[in-house]
Amino acid sequence: MNSALKDQVLAGKTVFVAGGSSGINLGIAQHFARAGAKLALISRSEDKIAAAAKTITDEGFEAIGMAADVRDYAAVEGALRQAHDRFGDIDVVISGAAGNFVAPALGMSANGFKTVVDIDLIGTFNVLRASYQFLRRPGASLISITAGQAVRPALFQAHVCAAKAGINMLTKCLAMEWGPSGVRVNAISPGPIAETEGMARLAPSPEAEARIKARIALRDYGTKTDIAEAAAYLASDSARYITGTILNVDGGSELGDAGGDALGPFS
Ligand code: NAP
Ligand code: COA
Repeated sequence: MNSALKDQVLAGKTVFVAGGSSGINLGIAQHFARAGAKLALISRSEDKIAAAAKTITDEGFEAIGMAADVRDYAAVEGALRQAHDRFGDIDVVISGAAGNFVAPALGMSANGFKTVVDIDLIGTFNVLRASYQFLRRPGASLISITAGQAVRPALFQAHVCAAKAGINMLTKCLAMEWGPSGVRVNAISPGPIAETEGMARLAPSPEAEARIKARIALRDYGTKTDIAEAAAYLASDSARYITGTILNVDGGSELGDAGGDALGPFS
């Protein structure tokens, strides 16, 4: 999106980002702030979220950081209330807090499985449910950050696959319930994104990274800006007729394995 359009779309909007202390979600927050939005960020760590908000205020834009665990409904609601008191009706909610580790089902305890479902799925319910009373209605745009594991089973990712599949269905159910109030509910499904904790955990070596890239149709990782641009679109009036959608921003990852000589005899 060119910068003039971006400014027009996001200037003055209030944006709440759950899981905003690092990675893709902080990338979205910084991108939106540069386009004139006012940012309220939460994550578990008081220090990390304060540092994240400071990256935005240091650039001369508006942001507050609050410690709140998405597993704690009252804490999430309290942070949303503070954001609303400070900046007014909330125009955009990004629900992106998540946890991941690589482990086979037999190598994870019931609590290990539950921990990821609690952060990703229950956390997303908490963020979206608690936000409703503070939203600009009509007009608000809610965007969850899901993942390809929601629709493609993956070894050693049973917890993430189950949790993200739940997020996709929650997105569609809330889109149906809240559409009549003028609230749009969508999700972005990023492919592998460079320089993130997620990919550091899933592809911890250059060899693993190269193997993944060789199988993606577009043959590369995406960037945090790719995801932020998609979020800006979903937040904008250009997307006014889009709700209940899972937007893949994944270089074609969801299409399946495009490895080898993808053109076959026509290359
Ligand atoms: P990240 O930097 O680790 O971001 C995760 C964020 O969630 C952090 O800000 C973390 O902050 C916060 N968080 C974790 N548990 C929390 C909790 N219980 N309550 C509140 N905040 C919590 O990871 P990332 O790789 O950028 O991933 C961001 C999102 O994109 C996730 O939803 C992930 O599933 C999705 N995604 C990532 C990729 C990728 O390539 N990286 C691909 C597909 C989807 P604290 O530690 O300060 O709490
Ligand atoms: N393999 C198997 N089980 C694991 C594990 C691993 N690599 N890492 C954690 N667990 C289990 C723990 O053993 C524990 O289960 P137990 O009580 O039965 O022993 C359970 O998961 C919870 O661990 P804990 O460290 O108490 O959870 P937490 O709430 O402090 O942290 C995590 C949540 C585990 C998801 C942690 O990795 C995290 O904070 N992640 C956030 C960052 C991230 O994952 N970013 C990428 C996003 S895509």
